Amino acid sequence: MTVRMRPLLVGAATYVPGLRNLTARRTGGTASARYCYSVWMRHLVMAHTSGIATRFGTVAELGPGDSLGMGLAALLSGAERYYALDIVRYAESTRNIAILDELIALFRSRAPIPGEDEFPLVTPLLPSYDFPHHLLTDERLATALDPQRLALIRDALLELDAPKAHTPLIAYFVPWDDAAVIERESVDFIFSQAVLQYPSDLEATYRAMDRWLTPGGALSHAIDFKCHGTTREWSGHWSCSDPVWSLLNGRRRDALNRAPHSAHIDVIEGLGCTIVCDQRAELPPAITRVQLAPRFRHLTDDDLTISSAFIQARKPIEPASLPGADCRTKGEAV
Ligand SMILES: C[S@@+](CC[C@H](N)C(=O)[O-])C[C@H]1O[C@@H](n2cnc3c(N)ncnc32)[C@H](O)[C@@H]1O
Repeated sequence: MTVRMRPLLVGAATYVPGLRNLTARRTGGTASARYCYSVWMRHLVMAHTSGIATRFGTVAELGPGDSLGMGLAALLSGAERYYALDIVRYAESTRNIAILDELIALFRSRAPIPGEDEFPLVTPLLPSYDFPHHLLTDERLATALDPQRLALIRDALLELDAPKAHTPLIAYFVPWDDAAVIERESVDFIFSQAVLQYPSDLEATYRAMDRWLTPGGALSHAIDFKCHGTTREWSGHWSCSDPVWSLLNGRRRDALNRAPHSAHIDVIEGLGCTIVCDQRAELPPAITRVQLAPRFRHLTDDDLTISSAFIQARKPIEPASLPGADCRTKGEAV
């Protein structure tokens, strides 16, 4: 394993008072309305394929980042309420409203889903990027895009800059550190994009989501397992000893939790949820078993090749699990 110099220096610099805020000032994709549209539509289409009902009362998102655009896309496709939970307040009204306007135009024109040519790194991959008329019927969109409703969404966004930003349509919890911020069994669909590689207490994060989900509700998460440039090998982070990893990360806000694919599956299944989709992208193994740091010796052979995954799971209606449609795929191109 070869640790890269730049992240090491940035990690060390975070110990200097005042420099911690230099890390993770922007998050990536959600400053673009087309990205938000593409990602939300992919979660929605995949949910349908996985046998998850796609008419949602409440939708929640972990880690929206630079804007609430993906949740706005959920509202524009008919969800009644949207909760966003982040650890840093990145999204603010001006950007949210600009993104809302662009999203409305995309939905009104029934624009195709921006695909792999425009967003080559975004997962999940879909067999077709056509507008999903079978899910978003004209009748459903007429209600969702009603001008009075759009005015309410816009008003809600304007209120969100206040510290306790909760309206009946949209709530933005930042930072959230207590599962009690959302009422038990009140959310139908919880999704995230490139987020679950970060929470340091992954089990507690999944337990919170399980607590929020209604019986029969669903999880939908795209997770990246790669090293994010910390080492030369895409999987080199699993060979870093704890002291080296601490040095690399310092007090960065965006430190990876290094949980591999099997850890997510184990936690989800341990909570009694049924995995209904596990779309994996794989890369050739970049490190050997002997190079694994002691705490990662238990990684499965699959973990050593799965570089990202799109996982959907359903909470049982009764405590016993429900059979679900299954879209597990292996060996997809990265
Ligand atoms: C790489 S960004 C992804 C942002 C956005 N989802 C996208 O697709 O562009 C990661 C986001 O996850 C957030 N995050 C990290 N840990 C989190 C946690 N425990 N709970 C909620 N959000 C978290 C970060 O603050 C950031 O907004």
